[in-house]
Amino acid sequence: MNRRLGVLISGRGSNLQALIDAIAIGRLDASIAIVISNREDAAGLDRARATEIEAICLSHRAFATRDAYDRALVKELRARDVGLVCLAGFMRLVGAPLIEAFPNRILNIHPSLLPAFPGLDAQKQAIDHGVKISGVTVHLVTAELDGGPIVVQRAVPVIPGDTADSLAARILEEEHRAYPDAVQTILDGGWRVEGRRFVPARFPTSAST
Ligand code: GRF
Repeated sequence: MNRRLGVLISGRGSNLQALIDAIAIGRLDASIAIVISNREDAAGLDRARATEIEAICLSHRAFATRDAYDRALVKELRARDVGLVCLAGFMRLVGAPLIEAFPNRILNIHPSLLPAFPGLDAQKQAIDHGVKISGVTVHLVTAELDGGPIVVQRAVPVIPGDTADSLAARILEEEHRAYPDAVQTILDGGWRVEGRRFVPARFPTSAST
């Protein structure tokens, strides 16, 4: 499978950094062909440029419709021969032009155990609901917001006294491990999607774990 990643961001870029670091230490066999932010002030753009990864801003404000913006994203990604698109804090709904151009080739990371708490402020939703366990989900992107086949999930306990911020910080640590693992799983191939289920290439057995 084409191991050239296109990473879409809107801000801080710590998950982008986790991918950069995992590639640097050989834990993730991939390269980042392009980082695209919809916001000029995204700190993640600087993280990419610091390691000489091409990083551009493509503002959604310059486009009249969501589809026109998505088509522009597709053009930039294809121009760099990107094989897998990684959403990493990209605060835009992804529409049909992008999904159809990269079917089952777009990943997103979300800071809850989906299908609980999709959408914005997932960590605050978890605190407000009073769950005892939350976590992180990496999933394939479909037209359903935060609803695509689940590739990796990791649980993070909610500790008494947690705020949305303290929980978010602990979930983020787990995100930084989960995202490179999920990208590697996708790039290694052999998996399939059955309905809404992601079926990995091999199930771990007691002999191999
Ligand atoms: C992460 O919590 C991610 O799960 C969510 O947005 C946040 C992005 O953080 N989708 P960063 O920009 O990767 O630091």
